[in-house]
Amino acid sequence: MLTGKRILLVIGGGIAAYKALDLIRRLRERGASVRAVLTPAAAHFVTPLSVAALSGEKVNEDLFSLTDEAEMGHIELSRDADLLVVVPATADLLAKMANGLANDLASTLLLATDKRTLVAPAMNLRMWLHPATQRNVQRLRDDGVVFVGPVDGSMACGEFGPGRMSEPLEIVGGIEEMLKHSTVIALPNGETANALRGKHVVITSGPTHEPIDPVRYIANRSSGRQGHAIAAAVAAAGAKVTLISGPVTLPDPRDVTTVHVETAQEMLEATRQALPADLFIAAAAVADWRVAQTSDNKIKKGKDAPVLTFAENPDILATVSTLKQQRPKLVVGFAAETQNVEDYARQKLARKKCDMIVANDVSPATGVMGGDENTVHIVTAAGIETWPKMKKDEVAVKLIALLAQRLEADA
Ligand code: CTP
Repeated sequence: MLTGKRILLVIGGGIAAYKALDLIRRLRERGASVRAVLTPAAAHFVTPLSVAALSGEKVNEDLFSLTDEAEMGHIELSRDADLLVVVPATADLLAKMANGLANDLASTLLLATDKRTLVAPAMNLRMWLHPATQRNVQRLRDDGVVFVGPVDGSMACGEFGPGRMSEPLEIVGGIEEMLKHSTVIALPNGETANALRGKHVVITSGPTHEPIDPVRYIANRSSGRQGHAIAAAVAAAGAKVTLISGPVTLPDPRDVTTVHVETAQEMLEATRQALPADLFIAAAAVADWRVAQTSDNKIKKGKDAPVLTFAENPDILATVSTLKQQRPKLVVGFAAETQNVEDYARQKLARKKCDMIVANDVSPATGVMGGDENTVHIVTAAGIETWPKMKKDEVAVKLIALLAQRLEADA
């Protein structure tokens, strides 16, 4: 189901544009809202009036419309959507998207977005098979654009082959697939969609690297997967997310502002800069110590092995928890332990003065480190709750549901 989802539909100028009308109907039947934008060419195939009637929303066509800009600027149009859908995606639109051209409202929206995009191409088969189009398609795929179709079939021009647009129901299937990981959370008051809309959430993730000299560092073992999965789930629940990430090999999550840092001190500074926030989640594996005297030059091998002295790093979680001003309403920490998990977690909750500790056993036998699954214990002043073993992104979604309820209850 697509309840509460907002689709920005770009209708391209091709004979298949009439199918966009059916698509609007199908999407609305499933609970989605649809805002449509027509390219100048599209208006030759479908009328703005029928699109407006079916979508129940004003249709936007003009990049330079003062009235539209006053109502909702074109940047907001794409920011406000959960997904951008291009139907039919003509060779011209694909070429513009692949090259970042923005000379009308549709192409400008497609460039000015930080949301995911699905395209359903439709064109003559020779246009589809042309190396220029195939090059553009490959580029767009590399950029993360999702393609539905085209399929083989007879075309309006009388030829047969690949280039025919997929049917609306197939496009709906593609849209549902892309949006299925979005978090729709049931709140106690019966509200469901976008439980964290309007909230700002700051999350730390990954390890920190503490330099010894320009080529060496000490670090904690952390892939950043759990923190990044939480950031993605929080963004999907409608929040504005700032992710402060130590060095990881993961891509930046979508719809999230990611700040890259190396050291614990930089992570603390970036966290301070990101406040105020409603919620702070410390999922990073911060190095507890840094090398007291780092060397400006590479330390050369000598007779004796070098002796390193350490200085304690700031505790980011404890610092944020005890802020006089700007303490987020909810502060959540993680505890990675290899023994006495629950006991140590309880102590950490008290010591760091946070509202919740998500504790897990990371002893090598569990395979949690770098793995996809996790068994966590939720420790609060009220007690401990242990969740069954599940995938890290499932942990993320369940955790967000819990935090949204807590924020709601405290509001
Ligand atoms: N943490 C932090 N800054 C630090 C150390 C830890 O923000 N300098 C946060 C982590 O992000 C995590 C929580 O504190 O949310 C617990 O981290 P952990 O390393 O398990 O705890 P430590 O305080 O380092 O305690 P110990 O190493 O003794 O278990």
